[in-house]
Amino acid sequence: MHISSFFSLVFLFSIFPRADALFGYALLRCQFTSTREVVYVEQLYFKKVLLLQYNSTLGNFTGYTDKTKKIADYLNKDQAFLKDEKRNEESCKSFVPIATDILSRPVEPYVRLRSVEAPGNRHPGMLMCSVYDFYPKQIRVTWLRNGEEVTSGVMSTDELSNGNWLYQIHSYLEYTPRFGETISCVVEHASLIKPKKYDWVPMPESEKNKIAVGTAGLLLGLIFLLAGLIYYKKNSIGRVLVPTS
Ligand SMILES: *[C@@H]1O[C@H](CO)[C@@H](O)[C@H](O)[C@H]1NC(C)=O
Ligand SMILES: *[C@@H]1O[C@H](CO)[C@@H](O)[C@H](O)[C@H]1NC(C)=O
Repeated sequence: MHISSFFSLVFLFSIFPRADALFGYALLRCQFTSTREVVYVEQLYFKKVLLLQYNSTLGNFTGYTDKTKKIADYLNKDQAFLKDEKRNEESCKSFVPIATDILSRPVEPYVRLRSVEAPGNRHPGMLMCSVYDFYPKQIRVTWLRNGEEVTSGVMSTDELSNGNWLYQIHSYLEYTPRFGETISCVVEHASLIKPKKYDWVPMPESEKNKIAVGTAGLLLGLIFLLAGLIYYKKNSIGRVLVPTS
């Protein structure tokens, strides 16, 4: 079965109370594919290591250690237990309408355009167009220089899964600032009626200086605040100590 995009409902149970909860846990998951298929997966972890798994596609348990292999064999002979798992799979199916609804709706991405240091700090610099949280996966991200599509000096990542049903992609453009030039990142996606254009607005030098001065001022303020606190602490400790001595 090919899971091109899916939506998961996840239930997490800690097996141990309180502090040990992070060591052992069970993960119950309904996985919905865009083709309306449902997979119910139950996983038992200890210290992040998968020990035992039920997969409704196989309809049985699989053990991953000598001990849990024996447990899996035992559970696989237990018809009542397997029937329970079948019932859980059926419960998953009751969520299909919700999952289908989510998977049928395109999700519009949000876009961040920024300049980044090129590897090795060489020139030209780079612009990075980051497109976050879109669905479905199909997308086109391009660059325009003064309205003309740029084809050289462009690099892109693949569409990266967020681990849920959403994706992100990052496109890079080699870039040397030139006066009077407009650079834009253009996103084409099913969630958008027409391509959406994001213009690069370089930060003027004076703004950069303002930020630098502002940051320095803030740092200085923090240092004074810290010094003040330390001074106050020392004095208050002194005051508390005086009557007891
Ligand atoms: C469940 O089993 C199917 C068929 O072998 C497999 O494609 C799928 O990846 C499995 N799911 C998980 C979460 O292991
Ligand atoms: C689980 O079922 C699959 C497919 O029916 C089979 O190939 C596999 O050997 C079974 N695993 C166990 C542990 O019984």
